[in-house]
Amino acid sequence: MAQGRAEAYGRIAGRVAVVTGAGDGIGKGVARRFAAEGAKVLVAEIDGESGEATVRELAEEFGADARFVRTDVTDRRQVENMVATAVETWGRIDILVNNAWGSTGAVGRVENKTDEQLDRGFAMGYYGPYWAMRAAFPHMKAQGWGRVVNMCSLNGVNAHMGTLEYNSAKEALRALTRTAAREWAPTGVVVNAVCPGAKSAAFRRRMAANPELSTAADRSNPMGRIGDPEEDIAPVVLFLSSEDARYLTGNTLFVDGGSHINGVVWLPDLDAS
Ligand SMILES: NC(=O)c1ccc[n+]([C@@H]2O[C@H](COP(=O)([O-])OP(=O)(O)OC[C@H]3O[C@@H](n4cnc5c(N)ncnc54)[C@H](O)[C@@H]3O)[C@@H](O)[C@H]2O)c1
Repeated sequence: MAQGRAEAYGRIAGRVAVVTGAGDGIGKGVARRFAAEGAKVLVAEIDGESGEATVRELAEEFGADARFVRTDVTDRRQVENMVATAVETWGRIDILVNNAWGSTGAVGRVENKTDEQLDRGFAMGYYGPYWAMRAAFPHMKAQGWGRVVNMCSLNGVNAHMGTLEYNSAKEALRALTRTAAREWAPTGVVVNAVCPGAKSAAFRRRMAANPELSTAADRSNPMGRIGDPEEDIAPVVLFLSSEDARYLTGNTLFVDGGSHINGVVWLPDLDAS
């Protein structure tokens, strides 16, 4: 992506961005796009190998100043350390993208979920982003400038079957997004949510387990395809992270080729048993 070099763009040049789950999928796409735009990028990822690989890519392909910090977003101290690392390294934190998500166990009906699944879902999808926002806000407020983008999901909005802990944590995160947006509006810190639809690693894994759904998913999308993390999702996250979004806060943007309009193909209905 030669045209992605920092000198060619620069809409967030010099900004310090933290992206969680940037070792793969949408997070990696966002990190690459941010690097192409001249940002300094902290790749916060639970998986050391993919996190380090992303940093190497950002440096080699875009000449970016990028670092890796191993972060499990379900651990408060690691999340606080993530924010502290950005501030210690570059003296500020301008952009926070709460994107990480990992497995919470089996798909299943509401009545069969375990407390452990719910706890894990909320730790990953709600508390992790909350801890990061709480730690980042004082720095953003002092600068009078900050951007938070929280990755949420149509699964929660449309209450797809089988993924209670995911749906609930993501909808709680949207409530946090709006509450923080309202409270922080006078400070120059804007907070928005994105509900993406992208062929990330997680999406491909899910479709590999349900091959009949892969074609159906593409067909059900109004644009006839599920998006690309870097080319379709990241540009919108970039916009929300730029000066252009200074009067936009508390919103949810569905970046999904229009599939939220009439709903999407999802896992088959669960057994009633
Ligand atoms: N792909 C889609 O179509 C889609 C749809 C709706 C919402 N989302 C949301 O977008 C975000 C990214 O999804 P994706 O599809 O790119 O996923 P992905 O699985 O491709 O990437 C997720 C990344 O997060 C990392 N991760 C997992 N657990 C972590 C933890 N505890 N701490 C830190 N990092 C961790 C993984 O190692 C991986 O690199 C998620 O929040 C997901 O819920 C994606």
